[in-house]
Amino acid sequence: MTAQVIPTIQELRGALASIRSAGRTIGLVPTMGALHAGHGRLIETARRETGCVVVSIFVNPIQFDRSDDYERYPRPLSIDVEFCSARGVDFVFAPSAKEMYPDTERAFVEVAGVSEHLCGQFRPGHFRGVATVVLKLLNIVQPDRAYFGEKDAQQLAVIRRMVSDLNVPVAIVEVPTVRDADGLALSSRNQHLSPEERRIAPMLSLALKTARDLISGGETRPAAIKREALRILEEYSEVRVEYLEIVGAEDMQPTGEITGPVRVAGAIWIGKTRLIDNVLCAPGGAHPTQTARG
Ligand code: PAJ
Repeated sequence: MTAQVIPTIQELRGALASIRSAGRTIGLVPTMGALHAGHGRLIETARRETGCVVVSIFVNPIQFDRSDDYERYPRPLSIDVEFCSARGVDFVFAPSAKEMYPDTERAFVEVAGVSEHLCGQFRPGHFRGVATVVLKLLNIVQPDRAYFGEKDAQQLAVIRRMVSDLNVPVAIVEVPTVRDADGLALSSRNQHLSPEERRIAPMLSLALKTARDLISGGETRPAAIKREALRILEEYSEVRVEYLEIVGAEDMQPTGEITGPVRVAGAIWIGKTRLIDNVLCAPGGAHPTQTARG
C-alpha cells in the first residue's frame, strides 16, 4: 500500500485523531530523508511494535551549523515515499520549512550537560535545533513510541533527557546502528563521498572497534586507548579527526579511568564530508561474551 503523504500539521492531526479513536497505537520515526537501510531498521521496528507508523521527513534548518551542509543535503522525496510504502508506513509527514517555522522562532529547547561535549563542542546550536524540532514533532504527532538510532548516540541521549525532564508522554526506543559490510555506519551523507573517500571511510569504525577491544581486554586509561585508535586514522592524510572521545554511556561526559560502561565516539572529515560513529564498550570482565575469547 502507498504511504499517504501529508504536508500540513492540521491534516496530519486530523488523520491521526481517527487512528487514535480507533484504539491504534502510533509510532513516530523522525528523519531528514534520503532514506537508507538504517532508517529502514527504525521503520521496521516501529511497524512491528505499533499499529500506525508515521515517518517525518524534514530537513530541519535550525539544526545545521553550516549553510552549505543544509543546502546540499539530499532531498529525494518521491524515492523516500516509495521506500516508506514498501515498508508499510501509513503516513509520511513532509512539511515545508514555512509549515514548521511560520514565524521567527522564539522558543527553543536547550538540554544542558549531555549536549556539551562531542558534537556539541563543534556544532554550536546543533542539539538545540534537534531538541526543538523533535519536541515539535512529538507535540504534532503525539506518538506512543518514537524511534531513534544508536548511530547518533548523543542525539539520543539529548532526546531521552528532554523527554524525561519535560515529562513528554512518549516511550523512546533505541535501534542499533546498521553498517555496510566493511563496517561503515550508513548515513545520508555517505553519498557525498568519492570512491576513494568511500574506501577510507570505514577506518572510523575500525578505530572505534580497536578502542572497544582494548577496553574489553582490560585497558582502563582513556589516553592510551585514544592514542591507539588515533594511530589508525593518522595513517590517512585525507582524514581530519574532529574528535575521538570516551564518554560515560549515559551522561556523555568524558571519563577518567574506565570503571563502567562507556561510549567511544568519533567525528572525522574526509574531504568535505563529516562522518560520525560510536560504539558502546564494557570494561574487561564486565562483558562475559568478550572476556571468553582465548
Ligand atoms: P537523520 O540523520 O535522517 O536520522 C534519522 C534517524 O535515523 C536518527 O534517529 C538516526 O540516528 C537514525 N539513523 C541514521 N543512520 C542510522 C544507521 N546507520 N543505523 C541506525 N539508525 C540510523 O537524525 C536526524 O535525522 C535528525 O537529527 C532528526 C532526529 C530527524 C531531527 O531533525
